[in-house]
Amino acid sequence: MNKNKKLKVSIVMGSQSDYKIMKLSEKTLRSLGVSLEKKIISAHRTPKRMFEYASSAEKNNIGVIIAGAGGSAHLPGMIAALTHLPVLGVPIESKKLKGLDSLLSIAQMPKGIPVGTLAIGQDGAINAALLAASIIGKNNLQVRKKLKSWRSSQTKSVKKIPK
Ligand code: RP5
Repeated sequence: MNKNKKLKVSIVMGSQSDYKIMKLSEKTLRSLGVSLEKKIISAHRTPKRMFEYASSAEKNNIGVIIAGAGGSAHLPGMIAALTHLPVLGVPIESKKLKGLDSLLSIAQMPKGIPVGTLAIGQDGAINAALLAASIIGKNNLQVRKKLKSWRSSQTKSVKKIPK
């Protein structure tokens, strides 16, 4: 990984239908000034696209991958198996099992290929972006500063006493 280049975060999702959640990752990263790209890649519907994407991610100036998927959510794990970059998984809420299937599919990776798993749905999408910004911020002072100010605003927004 080239530390001197500004690394971007890549947001990938298994389907267009995931974007209603994954757009929160995008919005959060934009508010922190993090460069990003977004793609629809399905592990089972577009396996060749997934292989091509994951195996060339590092040379494409990507620092962190956020992968959102629902149901039998194998996308984050499959991508993690094809790259050495950190992969953060966002379980998308499924219709039948409310995202428990997605959560377990992403979190229960057998040892050897880790996926950093966030909460189901909106909270997970936002936290994945915050975590990705924190990783990118290790080598990017501007992002680090924005992240600190984001945290500080959050702290200030908590009232001390109810009115
Ligand atoms: C998964 O199947 C996707 O990540 C999505 O969450 C789920 C449903 O996809 P669609 O049927 O809406 O395209 O692969």
